[in-house]
Amino acid sequence: MPPRTTTWKLDNHTLGKHRVLKNYMEAWLPIMSMTNDRVLFIDAFAGPGEYSGGQDGSPVIALRALMEHAAKDRMEGEIVYLFIEDDRNRYEHLKGVLNNIAPNLPANCKHWVLRSTFNETLTQALDRIDEQKQMLAPSFVMIDPFGVSNTPMRTIRRILSNPKSEVYISFMYREINRFKANPKFEPHLDELFGCSNWRQGIAIADTEERKHFYYDLYGSQLKDAGAKYVLHFELYENRELVYAIFFGTQSLDGCNKMKQAMWKEAPLGDFLFRGNQADQMTLGDGLLDTHRLELDLLKEFGSSEWVAIEEVTSFVKSDRTAFHTGHLKNKTLAPMEDKGSLEVKPESRNKKGTYPDGTILRFMSSSENYSQGSLF
Ligand SMILES: C[S@@+](CC[C@H](N)C(=O)[O-])C[C@H]1O[C@@H](n2cnc3c(N)ncnc32)[C@H](O)[C@@H]1O
Repeated sequence: MPPRTTTWKLDNHTLGKHRVLKNYMEAWLPIMSMTNDRVLFIDAFAGPGEYSGGQDGSPVIALRALMEHAAKDRMEGEIVYLFIEDDRNRYEHLKGVLNNIAPNLPANCKHWVLRSTFNETLTQALDRIDEQKQMLAPSFVMIDPFGVSNTPMRTIRRILSNPKSEVYISFMYREINRFKANPKFEPHLDELFGCSNWRQGIAIADTEERKHFYYDLYGSQLKDAGAKYVLHFELYENRELVYAIFFGTQSLDGCNKMKQAMWKEAPLGDFLFRGNQADQMTLGDGLLDTHRLELDLLKEFGSSEWVAIEEVTSFVKSDRTAFHTGHLKNKTLAPMEDKGSLEVKPESRNKKGTYPDGTILRFMSSSENYSQGSLF
């Protein structure tokens, strides 16, 4: 049951959502605001701004990512934060929390708090933008409902039809799984998925298979709605899966940065955040198993063809492997070259163990015999 009180206790699993948000905002804000006149962070289910234990809510986390950023003085573009909250008491509480930190915000930052709903606000704003034949400013839209209603795929499609927009969505798997056969929820699930195919999941008996069916369907619907790359990670409370966060973007670099934001919190690369064990998940790269990236590379490029490092880098940035570019050169390509599973055209680079732009590579064996599924 969603809480009825204005603020509520911070669940352990929520930390994973917040930490990845913070990590990503720290990367997104400078990149976007140094290259665009105006950028927009929309927290469409903003909440009261703090938890009953005093911890920051997502609006404050996103604002602090700017206020406390070492490069904030170099972020010249206008940064607009829009917070949408439907509940009157939470809206009032959020305004109070934001009033306290507003004096510390840089002059190029504006923030607005609306007492409204996600769908109504975004639909009206996007209608206005369409009428004026304009585009939405580059946007990061956080969609963090308590349940499965009021987040229609058609509105997410309209957001993603703008080229520099990204979505960060709480996909409430526990509720979907619980209510999938309840006729009362059919219209909500039709809207959530933007299709009726979710019904096929009802008959899947195996719980893992069913979960993958729903994840795959939601991911492919996000891609159909305009996301070129889709990632997700799961949030657990003790051993129970609570929900997954789906991230959709049209930017290859955005995809890479989000993977880095996830790895920072779950460095084993499984992208599970196990609630009360969240703090144990910071073990460092010492345990990184790049053998899995090796397999992904061999599967993608393992033929006798030569390939440019730029193509290999694009693959690693994308959602077709769980790894990011920080894992590629020193941690994976160099050891592969040492053991002879990677050949480099000598004239394409100056120094062994380095892979600058222009380097031409050949992966030596095919991974046809490896069975390696995508983590996404
Ligand atoms: C999961 S909480 C948000 C938590 C917040 N994003 C955070 O991480 O700190 C969902 C919030 O959305 C509000 N809400 C519910 N339906 C809404 C709607 N249709 N549009 C906007 N806000 C809504 C609820 O009152 C609640 O405060």
